[in-house]
Amino acid sequence: MLKNGTKVISKKELHYVVEDGGNLLKFKPWLGDAFSFLYDVIMAKSIFPNKFGGDMNQHYGILRKELQGVHEKRVLELATGSGSAVNFLPNDNQYTGTDISPGLLRKAVKSFRNAGFTNAGFYVTSADNLPFDDNLFDIALCILSLNFFNDINKVLQEVKRVAAPGAVFICSVPVLERNKVRSTIRGTLYSEEELREICKEHGLSYETIPFKNGALLYFRAIM
Ligand SMILES: C[S@@+](CC[C@H](N)C(=O)[O-])C[C@H]1O[C@@H](n2cnc3c(N)ncnc32)[C@H](O)[C@@H]1O
Repeated sequence: MLKNGTKVISKKELHYVVEDGGNLLKFKPWLGDAFSFLYDVIMAKSIFPNKFGGDMNQHYGILRKELQGVHEKRVLELATGSGSAVNFLPNDNQYTGTDISPGLLRKAVKSFRNAGFTNAGFYVTSADNLPFDDNLFDIALCILSLNFFNDINKVLQEVKRVAAPGAVFICSVPVLERNKVRSTIRGTLYSEEELREICKEHGLSYETIPFKNGALLYFRAIM
């Protein structure tokens, strides 16, 4: 499952990539890392209503509907966070989670275990440099995170590489034109048109998932 020559060390159920010098690959802690114990409450009570002008339960409902037919697939998530995917992904899938934040991933380990996922794996890694082999995954997820990546093109290159032909990339992301409450949302906000164009440049076939939830856009892109 790992890219040729990649070594990982596993500590407390998280897999860390080993760099050439033998050190573990670590990342500048994301803000949420320090507040990982509060992350879910902050998302529900502050980020969804105030920043997105949306509703978290509706968000889960939209994604549940999109993923309800996905069973026994190899699913990769970019930026797993604290494991929100347990709210919409059926637990008979083979799940691989990735994030730069060990604090949030440790929460995700527990969430996935409690939700009945067996053999889920969690990697401390950046979405623009995945440690996995080519053509491995049937579904890739990226929820509320595309805006945080420094280089979205590198991320899409990596998703395309590790996903099998015909795999589906499912995303939810705040976009400029839906931000009606005009809140300050962190990261780089794209428009739907820009995202459609970026997908096209990487050979992905873009489709809007036709639901509205505040600033959030939902889309799928087929490899
Ligand atoms: C708003 S949270 C979303 C988390 C989760 N998907 C959810 O819906 O709750 C953004 C996540 O992006 C992660 N992140 C930021 N930059 C990243 C990168 N370069 N590679 C992987 N994850 C990253 C953060 O650690 C954080 O977990």
